[in-house]
Amino acid sequence: MPSVLITGANRGLGLEFTRQYAADGWRVFAACRDPAGAKDLAAVEGDVAAETLDVDDGSQVAALADKLSGQPIDVLINNAGIYGPKGLTRDTIDFDAWGQVFRTNAMSPLAVSAAFAASVAQGGQKKIITLSSIMGSIAENDSSGDFIYRSSKAAVNAVMKSLAGDLKSEGITVVVLHPGWVRTDMGGPEGAIEAPESVTGMRAVIAGLKQSDSGRFLNYDGTEIPW
Ligand SMILES: NC(=O)c1ccc[n+]([C@@H]2O[C@H](COP(=O)([O-])OP(=O)(O)OC[C@H]3O[C@@H](n4cnc5c(N)ncnc54)[C@H](OP(=O)(O)O)[C@@H]3O)[C@@H](O)[C@H]2O)c1
Repeated sequence: MPSVLITGANRGLGLEFTRQYAADGWRVFAACRDPAGAKDLAAVEGDVAAETLDVDDGSQVAALADKLSGQPIDVLINNAGIYGPKGLTRDTIDFDAWGQVFRTNAMSPLAVSAAFAASVAQGGQKKIITLSSIMGSIAENDSSGDFIYRSSKAAVNAVMKSLAGDLKSEGITVVVLHPGWVRTDMGGPEGAIEAPESVTGMRAVIAGLKQSDSGRFLNYDGTEIPW
């Protein structure tokens, strides 16, 4: 069966990806910061290995890549992300917090992708997926504020577009996805859809990707999102 490595697999969309891929018989490497405390993840049935990974910790990224070296990974899902402080205006921006959000949302997905690219190249499907957001679309930004989160997702879009070019010769498909506005801790109770609907949609999109799709920015229903 194919294998998938998911970051931030202990709750929210990462946990739902883990549930659905495991239920489908995939081998799931479910990476999270605190596997010992990840009770919901431990309850998932199937071929699930909980692995320790803070995506911002370079030594943990290297250690997990080392541990899994030689293990083909069909799909890598850079799911871990943070929103950062809400409600800040141009006058109250917290620049340290902005740096942390940039690290987790834009820099760490590249670090993780680079560390596992060799394993993905050995997989049958060769796909690197990153959870971005429509809030990172400059074309779709017709409101104001949310400087920190928006800019971090715009940045990861740019990073993954470049990575798509970088990894073309390896036959790896690199795509960024918007999961919809989902009722998770991040999306909040007002979200438009539940995690199972979002992840069912994204899994269908991922399953249908061809290498010619590399470098695209897609919604969870497969429609294109303008950069
Ligand atoms: N929900 C939405 O409406 C929505 C919309 C657009 C995009 N997204 C994106 O979708 C992804 C998942 O969002 P979600 O709604 O599932 O969020 P969530 O419920 O807040 O879960 C976030 C996950 O990321 C993990 N994480 C954060 N920083 C990490 C780090 N440094 N290392 C490892 N794991 C880390 C968290 O782990 P801990 O438990 O250890 O904190 C948690 O597992 C994010 O990239 C988010 O930006 C979500």
